[in-house]
Amino acid sequence: MARRVAFVNNKGGVGKTTTTVRLGEALAKARFRVLVVDLDPQGNASRRLGWAYDQEAPQLTISEAIQADRPGVAAQVIQPIGWEVEYAARIALCPARLELENRMAEAGVAGAWRRLAKALDGADDGFDYTLIDCPPSLFHLTQLAMAAAHHVVAVTEPEYDSVEAAVRVRDFITQRAADLANPDLALTGVIINAMQNLASHSDQRDSVRELFGGLVWDPVVRHRSLLVDADGDELPLTEVRGEKANEVRATYELLAQRFVKVIPA
Ligand SMILES: Nc1ncnc2c1ncn2[C@@H]1O[C@H](COP(=O)(O)OP(=O)(O)OP(=O)(O)O)[C@@H](O)[C@H]1O
Ligand SMILES: [Mg+2]
Repeated sequence: MARRVAFVNNKGGVGKTTTTVRLGEALAKARFRVLVVDLDPQGNASRRLGWAYDQEAPQLTISEAIQADRPGVAAQVIQPIGWEVEYAARIALCPARLELENRMAEAGVAGAWRRLAKALDGADDGFDYTLIDCPPSLFHLTQLAMAAAHHVVAVTEPEYDSVEAAVRVRDFITQRAADLANPDLALTGVIINAMQNLASHSDQRDSVRELFGGLVWDPVVRHRSLLVDADGDELPLTEVRGEKANEVRATYELLAQRFVKVIPA
């Protein structure tokens, strides 16, 4: 079975999707087989990986797999990504679109929080890692991810509200993992994203290190506009030009090395 890792923060816009996509990319470059599960109805990870919903020939998405409530059914929604680089063959996608919001209404249905775990069981055996991109909430969709995952990685900007929201993630896992029938679930890593040369960012970085100690993964990801451009243009980082491109690629390659050390395939 793949090691399943959920990327979470209870605040929006802090870089959960960027981190999921770029770490997935770096892991695939390092020859690991990666399944990205887009569990956000915004579908940002799906789009950034070059996937698009086709109205003429509608594809199944993770929403239908969750709704189906059958073991292994996620296998039917796994699709190739749209990037045209050699290592893209080692990344596959369970895409999402707005339709996924409809799964929220099932939160009160008995056992519904197990449905992603059930859908993935057997479906991700051929992968080394399943990376689950979560919405900025701790409610039903993220609980589906936490019931399915072995590990949670919190992504945080070095800003007060974002750090507080990462602390809520840690506390939620401590208090609720057993309720999700996943008592061994752990916060395994904290990634600091979009660091700028600001005194406030240095202060918050230090406070993240105090709060989370050895869980904080190096290196810190700098604020780099080329990440916005690459995300906007649906590009892999190998196809990005600019003076900071090498630095950004190296950052994610080092983070991937840390990832593999802490979470062996
Ligand atoms: N290190 C970075 N430097 C510059 N821009 C970044 C960085 N990381 C992410 N971004 C940009 O910030 C925006 C928000 O990032 P992203 O969508 O990954 O956040 P998110 O936490 O997934 O948001 P949401 O909660 O809406 O899902 C995007 O435009 C992304 O390209
Ligand atoms: Mg996101």
